[in-house]
Order: sequence, then C-alpha cells, then structure tokens
Amino acid sequence: MEEQQTLKDKQVDTRLDISVLFVEDEELLRAIYERILDKLVSKLYIASNGKEGLEAYNTHQPDLIITDIMMPVMDGLEMVQNIRQKDTDVRLVILSAYGEAEYFMDAIKIGVNSFLLKPVETKKLTALVHELANGILLERKVKEQEQQRKKAEENLRKLNQELEKRVEDRTQDLQHEIKERIQAENELKDLNLTLERRVKEELKKRERQQQLLIQKSKLESMGELAAGIAHEINQPLGGISMGLDNILFKLSIGKVSEDYLRKKIDALFQDIDRIRQIINHVRVFSRDQKNLVDERVDINAVIHDAISLISRQYQNHNIEISLNLCKNECLAIGNKYRIEQVFLNLLSNAKYAVEEKLKILLTGYAKKIEIKSYRENNFIVTDIIDNGIGIPEKHIDNIFDPFFTTKDVENGTGLGLSISYGIIKEMKGNISVESKENKFTKVSVYLPESKVKD
Ligand SMILES: Nc1ncnc2c1ncn2[C@@H]1O[C@H](COP(=O)(O)OP(=O)(O)OP(=O)(O)O)[C@@H](O)[C@H]1O
Ligand SMILES: [Mg+2]
Repeated sequence: MEEQQTLKDKQVDTRLDISVLFVEDEELLRAIYERILDKLVSKLYIASNGKEGLEAYNTHQPDLIITDIMMPVMDGLEMVQNIRQKDTDVRLVILSAYGEAEYFMDAIKIGVNSFLLKPVETKKLTALVHELANGILLERKVKEQEQQRKKAEENLRKLNQELEKRVEDRTQDLQHEIKERIQAENELKDLNLTLERRVKEELKKRERQQQLLIQKSKLESMGELAAGIAHEINQPLGGISMGLDNILFKLSIGKVSEDYLRKKIDALFQDIDRIRQIINHVRVFSRDQKNLVDERVDINAVIHDAISLISRQYQNHNIEISLNLCKNECLAIGNKYRIEQVFLNLLSNAKYAVEEKLKILLTGYAKKIEIKSYRENNFIVTDIIDNGIGIPEKHIDNIFDPFFTTKDVENGTGLGLSISYGIIKEMKGNISVESKENKFTKVSVYLPESKVKD
C-alpha cells in the first residue's frame, strides 16, 4: 500500500506541467483518452461537445485543446474557430476520422496546430502532446522571462525616476539654500554698510558736539574773564594817556630832550605791547585751536597768564592765591592758550568751592587756593588745591561727565571738567582729582614734558 502510494507520487511527478481540454462526444473514446491524458498532463478538463468545450475553455484557458470534429450541439471546428479568434497562443489538435478529410483545409485556415487520425494510437498521442508541451513550456518560460525583464525594467525605470526626482528635489533645495545664503550675505553687506555709515555719522556728530562744547566753554570763560581783561587793559591805557600828557606838558614848556622823548616813547610801546598781548590772548580764545597742540609751553608762564586774568577778581573776594612753582623752567608739550583755558576752569571751580565753604562756616575761615608745578615721570604736573567744600565720595566718579553739576543753573553747566579733560587728553596728558568733603580738593593736570632745549 505504501509502495503504491510512492509510485503514484512518482507518476504525478512525471506528468507534463500543462493543462489540456479534451472534447469528445463518444463516451467510450472519452474514457479511453481521459485515462491516457490523465497520466500524461497535470491538468485535464473534459467536455462532451463544442459548446461545453467553449465553456470549459472560457473558464480554464487551457494550454492545449484536443477535440473531435463531429459532435452534437456545436461541432469541433466551430468551437476552435471561436476560440482561435480570441486566443492565438492556445494549441489546437483535431481528432478526425478517416472520412473527414474535407475539413482539413478549414481547420488549417482556422489555425489548428495538428491533426490526429482516429483511432489514435497512444504512442502517437503521447508523442504529439510531448512535442506541443515542449513548445508551450518553452513559450511560457520565455513569457515568464519577458515578464521578469519587464518587471526589472519597470523597477529600474521607477528607481531612475525616483533618483531623478530626488536629484531634482535636492537641486531645488540647494538652489533655495544658495539663494537664501546670497540674500543673507547681501543683507549682511547692507547692514555693514549702514553700520559703517552710522558709526561715521555718529563720530562726526560727536566731534561736532565736542567742538561746540569747547566753544561754549570758551565763551563762558570769556564772560568770567571780561572783568579781568578790562582791568588789565585799563592799566597800560592809563600809562599811555599819562605818558602822552607828560610829553604834551613838557612840549608846552619847551623842555623836551630827545633822550626824554625816547624813554617816554619806549614806555608807551611797552604799554601798547601789553595791550596787544591781552588782545592776542582774547583773540586766540575765539579762534579754532584744534590743531595747535604741539608747541613747547612754559607751564609757569601759563599759570601766571591765567592768574593775571583773574587775580583782581579773586582779590576782591578775599581769596588768597599762593604759588609754589618749579624753580627751573617747566616745559610741557601742548597749546598754551588751551592749557590756560583748563587752568581757568579749574580755578573757577576752586573759587566756587571756597565761596560755598564760607557760606557754611561764616567765621574763622580763610579762602585759599594753592597752585603747584613740578616734574614727575616725564610729565609736568600742575596742582590746583583749594580748601573749599570738597567733593562727596558718591560724586567723585561723575564729575568728569558732561553736564554733571551740583551747581544751580546760573552757576554751572557741568561742562568745565569734561571739556578740560578732553583738552588735556588731546595733548596726551591726564587729569586726576583727590578730595575730602569739607576739607580740600586737589586737581592735578599732567602734561607730557618737553625734553628738547634750544
Ligand atoms: N574744586 C572743586 N571743589 C568741589 N567740587 C568740585 C570742584 N571742582 C568740581 N567740583 C564738582 O564737580 C562738578 C562738575 O564740575 P564742572 O567744572 O564740570 O562743572 P560746573 O563747575 O558744575 O559747571 P561749569 O564748569 O560748566 O560752569 C561741580 O558741579 C562740583 O560739584
Ligand atoms: Mg566748573
């Protein structure tokens, strides 16, 4: 039993892998051929006339149809004609009796592949089925390969498409990125340009403001100096008019010697020179002195000049000014008129400080200002020390700020120190302040020392 089963399995294995439709109206023949074919092929469909055969074809689409011709309902030829119209691949084999040869031509026209004469020998049938099966299997293989190729081609096409799409997308992304980058770069350039322009404008504005502040401070100093100047000019003017009077008087009494005249005229010229000096001084104050920063300046002389302008005024206010100046000439590098302007600013602050202190103390207080000059580490230093109200610690860091003032509107603008600082810095010097509230204030002006002597 087990052996039989194995044998049957082996038989199944050897059958041709094709499907066959067998159409025959005679029952006996059908049974015979069915047995033969069943062993020969893997799928077998049976029909008993053309109509059934057509239906079976429609349902199963077999690879091979073997059909009788003469059958009831629909004959074999009509059936194969029908089928051939739709299907050019299916193999068609006609079984015909000896007398049916007149159908051969029709059958050939229809496209029948082969004929078998009845009664069909098993051997012949087997051989024909094998032969046709070879073609069918080969064709199937070719078709399969063709399909695989098409599939592979399709896959390749899809892959290519995908790749192209990705390349396109990436290109677009890149283009976008490049565009954005260029735009950002351009924006940055614009921004830089705007920034540069704004910095330049701002610098110009600052410079203008600084100039204005200096101008303003000059004007203010001028106001304060007016009294001093008037006094200073008055003296030589007095001398001149007195000298002229004397000459006129001597002339009227006829006692004019040449020697006398020369002496008098010399004195007159001296007075005139003094006036010219004062006028020069005032004129320089009103001129733009921006570039005059590298002269050699005798600091003691500048201190004297400054004092000559204010001494009368300070004397009137009982302010004692004491000097403690370096013995030898102290020469600094800078512009004497601007240094003088700084000294006048500092002296004005000192004056205010001592006046304020007097208001607090009322009695037993002497207003004092001391001016010192000395050399220190390649600098000529000028100290202006007052025994006034001093600067509270909380203010000490602000006093050089423009517009910082503790004075009321009439007494101060808060520009004096900031401008002085600017002027001294321009001459590569420095200003420092030391103070104790209600005791003293010492402002030290450092200017680079001039080493060269003529
Ligand atoms: N010698 C000093 N003693 C006490 N306080 C001083 C002295 N010098 C400056 N200060 C303080 O520093 C502030 C700023 O001084 P700065 O000279 O800059 O302006 P100001 O004197 O107030 O006004 P301006 O000089 O413009 O008329 C003063 O208001 C004052 O409070
Ligand atoms: Mg001041």
